[in-house]
Amino acid sequence: MFHITNFSEYEKAYKQSVEEPEVFWKEIASYFQWNKPFTKVLNWNFNEPKIEWFIDGKLNITENCIDRHLPSKKNAIAFYFEPNEANGVRISVTYQKLYEEVCKLANCLKSTGVESGDRVCIYLPMIPEAVYAMLACARIGAAHSVVFGGFSAQALKDRINDSACKVVLTSDGAYRGNKQIPMKATVDEALVDCPSIEKVLVYKRTNQAITLKAGRDLDWETEVNKQAAVCAPTYVDSEHPLFILYTSGSTGKPKGVLHTTGGYMVYTAYSFKNVFQYNENDIYWCTADVGWITGHSYITYGPLLNGATSLVFEGVPTYPDAGRFWKIVDTYNVTHFYTAPTAIRALEAAGLDFVKPYNLSSLKVLGSVGEPINEEAWHWYNTNIGKNNCPIVDTWWQTETGGILISPLAGITKTKPSYATLPLPGVQPMLVDDKGNEIIGNNVEGNLCIKFPWPSIIRTTYGDHERCRQTYFASYTNLYFTGDGCKRDENGYYRITGRVDDVINVSGHRIGTAEVESAINMHEAIVESAVVGYTHDIKGQGIYAYCIVTGDYANEETLKKEILETVTKHIGAIAKPDKIQLVKGLPKTRSGKIMRRILRKVAENDFSNLGDTSTLLDPTVVEEIKKGRV
Ligand code: WT7
Repeated sequence: MFHITNFSEYEKAYKQSVEEPEVFWKEIASYFQWNKPFTKVLNWNFNEPKIEWFIDGKLNITENCIDRHLPSKKNAIAFYFEPNEANGVRISVTYQKLYEEVCKLANCLKSTGVESGDRVCIYLPMIPEAVYAMLACARIGAAHSVVFGGFSAQALKDRINDSACKVVLTSDGAYRGNKQIPMKATVDEALVDCPSIEKVLVYKRTNQAITLKAGRDLDWETEVNKQAAVCAPTYVDSEHPLFILYTSGSTGKPKGVLHTTGGYMVYTAYSFKNVFQYNENDIYWCTADVGWITGHSYITYGPLLNGATSLVFEGVPTYPDAGRFWKIVDTYNVTHFYTAPTAIRALEAAGLDFVKPYNLSSLKVLGSVGEPINEEAWHWYNTNIGKNNCPIVDTWWQTETGGILISPLAGITKTKPSYATLPLPGVQPMLVDDKGNEIIGNNVEGNLCIKFPWPSIIRTTYGDHERCRQTYFASYTNLYFTGDGCKRDENGYYRITGRVDDVINVSGHRIGTAEVESAINMHEAIVESAVVGYTHDIKGQGIYAYCIVTGDYANEETLKKEILETVTKHIGAIAKPDKIQLVKGLPKTRSGKIMRRILRKVAENDFSNLGDTSTLLDPTVVEEIKKGRV
């Protein structure tokens, strides 16, 4: 198999992956089931960009996730489902059950008219059906577009329309801690303006009141139970779209990052196995939501491709109390636990009394993802959860990279707090200065690029290939640009320091400042706004909004509340500013460019080195902004 078991094997694999990448990946790809073998491993050109892996190969990824394991693992658990309510109904999904559920849903999608190449929107809570839904799409060659349940009707509508989805898979509502969230009502609101949608399949989770539109809306269980529990996989080309996932950038609307089938399969399986060092009988738990890339690659595809047993959790870390994660680890004897620094910090803040009652001795590997993990949180995690006995894999990657690119291999790579350490085999990082010159040697810092394709690299942004080129491949010739700043220490270890563009990372979620600004500007009392990130104890970064008000408003408090409502309506609650400052003007250069550097410093409460403000159009606004800091 492709399992790396010690550091010298890692070094050997890495060396080969750079010297003979096609030989290297061909060997790894040979462990999968191909309906028709590929004839060439790689075609690539970063300038267009055009990237193709495992050319001419035909396959179905679900055959590799499910069917392939059935002879030996029919009755093995693919995943356990832990509901939001600690005393709710638990479910164990065997590989056989997974097969049947996916086949029935795939047949159901076919009966609603979905064909290979179509797009299907998935707007569901973290329930087994979300995993079935992704796999059912893949079973028949349809691309899924999962939209996180926290996004608003407006955001959902934009995503559905951008990729012209034919069907939406949703539920009546969702449980989230002590709240019940409407899902179907949000879908209804979005669909007022979604001409491509033909059918909506509604799963009953909460049994809250909903309306069904005749001819469009179908009851999930009724429809699925009509179907046969067998569905032959649709074989697709290796480069056939597998899914679209929307993500925010520094400008404009979210982009639909497109991943294709063969390369994504090979890389997520390979990285899952080697980063986590998952072995037979281990119980792996990733706390992400399928609405994000982590949920795609390391809840659904990576673990299932490896025939793993994992856990799907519907709830939140702090319900019914801040001991929930540790209680679950204890209950299921979780061996591999993968979460985000923001959750670690929040649980640290809740105190050790929530950790102490539970037996965490089953844990072998801890993971971190989504944002830089600060040293303090790293040590807390290491000491109190890992009991100084579990390697921490700080995994750096992105929606666009499809899988983990820089990370320790658990127990194999020596870790260093706050460092993602070394690249996986096949990944060739490069640091460049602003002009694009390579920064060589160690003890250096620069912009992080990757100079050679790996199998799960983004192929395009849906419907707008030029935008993909501009965003990732145009900043530096012949390089994929990540948007992250990065240090390389004396041993060649990488430490990702955060975004160097106008993107804020709030609780591990990527928020584009331009998007928040355009939502705020929808409020009729706001003429213009500027949004920046600032250091936040729990969330990593918080959102600070400077808003220029015009005309009348009742009072400051009401206006701020309305601004928050406007953002919630246009994007979702996750993008709500933490701080709002009403201002008369923004620091702009004579050419009209907002000096965000100044705004960032004020938001951080750091008034030193604001630079030469005399070149500003109106230097007095800086004083006003400093005085009015919230
Ligand atoms: C951005 C990607 C990767 C899945 C979840 C987020 C930041 C991610 C780390 C890490 C430091 C990290 C980067 C990256 N990031 N992991 N281990 N250390 N920063 O996916 O929404 O596509 O965001 O998250 O800034 O560019 P995403």
